[in-house]
This record gives sequence, structure tokens and C-alpha cells, in this order.
Amino acid sequence: MQFMASPGGTLPRRPTIGVFDSGVGGLTVLRALLERIPDADYLYFGDSARLPYGSKSAATVAHYAVGAAHYLQDRGAELLVIACNTATALALDQIKAASRVGVIGVVEPGAQAAAAASRNRRVVVIGTEATVSSHAYRRALEAKGIAAREKACPLFVPLVEEGWVEHPVTEQVARIYLSEAFADDFRESDVLVLGCTHYPLIRSLLGRVAPEHVTIVDSAESTAHAVAEQLQVAPIESVRSHERRAYPRLKFFATDSAEKFRKMGTRFLGHAVEDVEHVDLKE
Ligand code: DGL
Repeated sequence: MQFMASPGGTLPRRPTIGVFDSGVGGLTVLRALLERIPDADYLYFGDSARLPYGSKSAATVAHYAVGAAHYLQDRGAELLVIACNTATALALDQIKAASRVGVIGVVEPGAQAAAAASRNRRVVVIGTEATVSSHAYRRALEAKGIAAREKACPLFVPLVEEGWVEHPVTEQVARIYLSEAFADDFRESDVLVLGCTHYPLIRSLLGRVAPEHVTIVDSAESTAHAVAEQLQVAPIESVRSHERRAYPRLKFFATDSAEKFRKMGTRFLGHAVEDVEHVDLKE
């Protein structure tokens, strides 16, 4: 990787990190990146016109994701973070093959954190239909000696987009999904992986509904750590506060209405989404 940390732990120059998602959901990953690596510039591409990816085929998702990866590189991204779990699960290899910069997806960092957190080597992963059908998480976990049950939770994305994050309907839906996931051989699973960009918004609800002994692993946070490691960014707490130049520049591209992206994005990012440009990717 071309970015090396100086002895003081800060980067010699600010990297430009491209973040790709099917829409606003990946802003949860951007949020984690901003906390971990504030000294960078970010280009975020949300393919909001073609969302959801979670119900599409691998070929379609790969086609869309490669187009977005090219766009971000043409705008100056020096590293790509595939924030979308579905795009990572279905198309990471194609995106890597089509990119001239480094590419990091969310599945491997999430699986690594889950493997580290699980005492009894049994993990439940929740995600979209497409992520679950690809078995990308199961493969990554089994490679680390962990048994995994993957459970599709397709109703969560629309519920979260509706803003129903602390809502009795969402809680009831979560009870049904999680009771099906934590059953039989996986009753004693001790880790729940949030394998979708939208789930960090219902993390506390899921924490209440999941069995008490369960640790939640957020693949957004794990990915931010993996990116920091790759860029050799010093742990934030070890950089003296006067050395922190926490003024990331953020630029957003959305394939559907910029106004809609701005409005909905604010909830996912946790603060105002400002500089949004509408882009029209030709098929
Ligand atoms: N970003 C997707 C993911 O993380 C969820 C939304 C969609 O289905 O496009 O899997």
C-alpha cells in the first residue's frame, strides 16, 4: 500500500478514500471510518437509484459495483472501501480485478472480528437475501474454524429506511428472525454479526432481542479498523490531541435525487450530509 505512517503515527499526506454502497446505508461505514480515520478525504458513492442490491443477482450487482468503482477512481479515490455487504459478498473479486487501487470489503473484517469474539466457535450472521445466499460470510468464518448460520432478514432494510428503529413492529420482526437463527445447533452461538449496512441503526434493539450471552459484531466498525491497519494509521487514542487534524473533506455522489440522499443520509451518518452531487451512470 502506498500510504505509510510517519514515526509520529500520522499520515504524511491525506489519503482520498472512496466508499461505495448501494445507497445511504454505507454511511454507517463512513461514520465508523470518520471516527477511526478523520485525517482523510472521502468520496462516497451511493447507487440510490438502483437500490436495493440485496434482492438482485450476482451478475447485476457486479456490473453496477464495477461501474461505481471506476467512477470513484476517476474522481481520485486512492483506496476503495466496499461498504455494501451485498456488493462485497457477490462481487468483491470482480471489483478488485477491475480496480487499479486497493479494495477492502466488509465481509473479511467482520468475519475476523467475529472469530476473535466467539468463545464457543459458533456465530450467527444476519444480512440481505443475496448476502446470505452467497455464503460469503460462512466461507470466511469456516476458513477460521468457526461454524456459522446465516439468516436473511429482508424486512430490516425497509424498516430502517422508514425510520422505525425503535418501533414495536421492528422489535417483533427481530424477535421472529433471531429466534429462528438462534435455534437448534446454533442456540448457544455467542456472536451476532451485523452483515448489512442498515443494521447498526437497530443495534440496541437487536442487543435487547438477542439472547443475553451474545456479543454483537458490527462489520462497519471492523472494516474501519481494517482500513486503518492497511493505511497504518496510529490508534486514535495514541495520537496527541494537538496532532489531530480532524477535518475530513466529504463529497457525496448519488444516482437518485441529491435532496433525498441528503435527507435520509443524515440519519445514517449521524450528522448533516452536505455536498451531494447527482450522477447518472450510463448502463
Ligand atoms: N447495502 C446493502 C447491504 O449492506 C443493503 C441495502 C441493499 O439491499 O441494497 O447489504
